[in-house]
Amino acid sequence: MTKEQLVQEAIKARQKTYSPYSNFGVGAALLMKDGTVIHGANIENASYGLSNCGERSALFSAYSQGYHKEDIVALAVTGGTDQPISPCGACRQVMNELMPKNTPIYLSNLKGDIKPTNIKELLPYSFDEVEHNEE
Ligand code: THU
Repeated sequence: MTKEQLVQEAIKARQKTYSPYSNFGVGAALLMKDGTVIHGANIENASYGLSNCGERSALFSAYSQGYHKEDIVALAVTGGTDQPISPCGACRQVMNELMPKNTPIYLSNLKGDIKPTNIKELLPYSFDEVEHNEE
């Protein structure tokens, strides 16, 4: 699957948004090694802080279906932005933990502009998985 095709999947995922408060839909698509594409959309709540971004919806869905980081090939994200959408800080932290460090990330918009990047660019000097040592 090309990055353009994965971006089209993210645009399809965006149609599943529940964003009556911001009216800003975000779609994400994860390509898995077995060829499966997993969609995520932002899901909001009247208690605004409980809203979940499209990127995290896709990653949480993948893990909920039994996938793990080593199963992930690439991630595409899209929104109605002039420039390719820029993921929020919370999503960057979650991507850092749940995807391999070298996963291609395609930031995009509805016009089809694509900015390829990766988690090292999006979240330099990251806080990584901690080892839970017994005291
Ligand atoms: N949002 C995402 O889903 N992903 C991003 O990368 C940026 C923001 C959502 C959160 C909220 O539902 C809406 O976009 C407006 O902030």
